[in-house]
Amino acid sequence: MRSLQQQHGVSPLTVQAVVRELSAEGLVTARPGSGTFVARAAQPAELADTSWQQAALGGHSPLDVSSTLSLFAKPAAGVIRLAGGYLDDALVPSAALSASMTRAVRRPGSWGRVPAEGRESLRQWFAREIGGVDASNVMITSGGQAALSIAIRSLTRPGESIVLESPTYTGAISIARSYGLDVAPVPMDDRGMRTDLLPAILERSNARVILTQPLFANPTGVTMAAERRAELMRIAEHYSVFVIEDDYAHDLAIERPAPASLASADPNGHVVHIRSLTKSAAAGLRVAALVAKGAAYSRLRSAKALEDFYVAGPLQDAASDFVNSPAWATHKRKVSAELGVRRDALVSSLAAKLPELAVAVRPRGGMHLWARLPDQVDDVALAGLALADGVAVTAGRAWFPAEPDGPHLRLTFGETSADLIPEGVERLARALDRARAFAQAPPRV
Ligand SMILES: Cc1ncc(COP(=O)(O)O)c(C=O)c1O
Repeated sequence: MRSLQQQHGVSPLTVQAVVRELSAEGLVTARPGSGTFVARAAQPAELADTSWQQAALGGHSPLDVSSTLSLFAKPAAGVIRLAGGYLDDALVPSAALSASMTRAVRRPGSWGRVPAEGRESLRQWFAREIGGVDASNVMITSGGQAALSIAIRSLTRPGESIVLESPTYTGAISIARSYGLDVAPVPMDDRGMRTDLLPAILERSNARVILTQPLFANPTGVTMAAERRAELMRIAEHYSVFVIEDDYAHDLAIERPAPASLASADPNGHVVHIRSLTKSAAAGLRVAALVAKGAAYSRLRSAKALEDFYVAGPLQDAASDFVNSPAWATHKRKVSAELGVRRDALVSSLAAKLPELAVAVRPRGGMHLWARLPDQVDDVALAGLALADGVAVTAGRAWFPAEPDGPHLRLTFGETSADLIPEGVERLARALDRARAFAQAPPRV
């Protein structure tokens, strides 16, 4: 250790840090009392023969979750990211979160057991934030995805139907399919879910659950109009069905005030509400609230406990510390202002450089914008060409529970600074020209 310090002119701390990293990579091993030694080279692994699994797993086609997993894909250097679904590093409040985590792990008992419902302080915070619910209605889950999965699984049985907005979050479609549910799509327009079609859909499908994103829906950016909200709640009461409200973008409002959640005015427990911190704070702050009343709460609680017992205590404590600190309000103001600048940059760049893309709604929050492509363009092929041209965008197809009513793109403004957005749109325009040229080329014989 001493000679390494001298050789490289670095401090003992630096050498220790390097050795820790080499040890983590398995290249050296530390033996207390003896020293640090170069590790024995690992034997090359023999090629495993797993072909027997083909017979054991059977012939079901596996669920394609590639569009959900692409939310986490790291783009190659130089690619402008108009895809994804979380804030970029420039907007993540890393310093404040690290400070909260440091305080959290210093708490006595921080590594101890936690009730399945979660830490009381965090449950109370979510209850205050949501309004109209008590802390006893709240359980803490590992992000919104887990909450969605638990809610959908607990409130349905395989073979039943679930009503999903069309288009909707691709991860929710995958959950529904993975539990063997039939999907009954209800179309969206620029005022949200077409509630006028709901009664017929419920009668035809017998569904007992409707999933909705009333605020800044992913992918359309639409906010459900007040009369549709009221109509949805009337229908839920009339047909005795649950409404799962995925309020994933509640803290990403650009234009305030945002409408109150459905859960905040639901005395009789029709609404099962989901509110996640991952979108507004950091993808790695995997903490969300799943809220329900009555027997539904007990069902969800059992499913949650069977899934993973509880969310790690230090993470819950860090989340609670962060949202109860002044840093939270400062952070939300910053995010809201910056998302507004980015949205405007995207809308104006599209109007200037890609007027053939029809943008139905200028989102009042969230981080996605939905654009209709000219009819002859293949959205998946275009997304591939765009990536080759250095801009990542999301093809719309996977966001429809059934056949899409035309080709669309989802363009995300949450992951790229406003100064890069015009160049991203420029690259997309070039890719669209090429996609059109392909579409018009006569088929090769
Ligand atoms: C609409 C919607 N709901 C839920 C989720 C899951 O988010 P998380 O598990 O990170 O909270 C996502 C992620 O993209 C989403 O877009």
